[in-house]
Amino acid sequence: MRLQAIETAGFITREERLVLAPTGGGPLPRLENLCTLLPLGLSLAPNFRINGRDRVVPMVTEEASVVAGASRIAVLLRSGEGLRATAGERLLGGQVLWAWQGSWQDLAALTEPRQGELLERLNGLHPSLVGAGGGLRSFCWRAGPEAGLQVLDLVAHTGDAMGAHLLDRLAAELAGELLRFLPGRPVTSIVSNRPLGRSARAEARVSLELLGRCGREGAQVGADIETLCGWALGDASRWPTHLKGALNGAFAVLRAFGQDDRAVAAALLSTAQVEAPALLPRWRVQDGELVGQLAMPLAVGVVGVGLEAPPGSILARLAGVVKASDLEELVVAVGLAQNLAALQTLVTEGIVKGHGELHARRGRGQGES
Ligand code: MEV
Repeated sequence: MRLQAIETAGFITREERLVLAPTGGGPLPRLENLCTLLPLGLSLAPNFRINGRDRVVPMVTEEASVVAGASRIAVLLRSGEGLRATAGERLLGGQVLWAWQGSWQDLAALTEPRQGELLERLNGLHPSLVGAGGGLRSFCWRAGPEAGLQVLDLVAHTGDAMGAHLLDRLAAELAGELLRFLPGRPVTSIVSNRPLGRSARAEARVSLELLGRCGREGAQVGADIETLCGWALGDASRWPTHLKGALNGAFAVLRAFGQDDRAVAAALLSTAQVEAPALLPRWRVQDGELVGQLAMPLAVGVVGVGLEAPPGSILARLAGVVKASDLEELVVAVGLAQNLAALQTLVTEGIVKGHGELHARRGRGQGES
């Protein structure tokens, strides 16, 4: 319902409609029933060096201490070789739920001889994806959640796209093709947000000497940070907050680049269900340094997220994001740095003092500038 209709229906007054109506004259987001625009602060975190390149990292967050913490750690880490990051395998899954009272093996036996031909036909429908190195890679049948239901899992390489729309389409197209010769019927088809393949990874190291803060020796700070990582691994009440420290950075970057952060959250939950420790950032003391690692499943993309024109194109240039793999590297690297910022604060001045002042300034409307 549009604003005018909401007013006519008596939910808001004329004055309220005028307050809510989007102003500014710029292009409006293409959203159904757009009502108003909310202010969203985008900050820039300087000093990051990732894979040997200097980056200015755009971050969108409502938490005042996040950008300050990221920037502080970026300075620390660039004293060495900075952060190293690698993108994951750009694979995403799709599913077709198929109603068939027989077994999945029946369907597999009928599908198998046509697998190559089907792959070719479907990829032929997506020449630009194939041109970008992507495309449908494989599909296979398995038993569904109850008798009479079978599941077809598809795997595609998404090129530089996040891939959700692509997998929705590929799954629907494949279901249509299968319906021509298989018994039973497709109930529905949809992208799966379950992570597949290798995750994006970040690593960093910093000399213990540089970790000292608030009168605490660097060696002690490093040892305490390692202790906190062990605590997170062994305590189900602690690990969500330990992880959240990394997500503060990672999600701020995802938001700045217009990503589907719910898909990333869903993939993290899916991994946590199987192996929560695999998601946790870890730091250990080794040869006079603190060495950290983080791995994250990241379905992100640079296609269709507004990076072709300003402001997106400017942010992408500042952060060195050209391909989807660049964005994966940025997100996981900032996540690792943000986790270190949180842990260093926890074992030095403490979170109340560390965050308190920034929160108070935010309350007075004096954000970082
Ligand atoms: C606050 O948003 C994040 C932290 O609580 C993370 C942590 O405890 O490790 C500081």
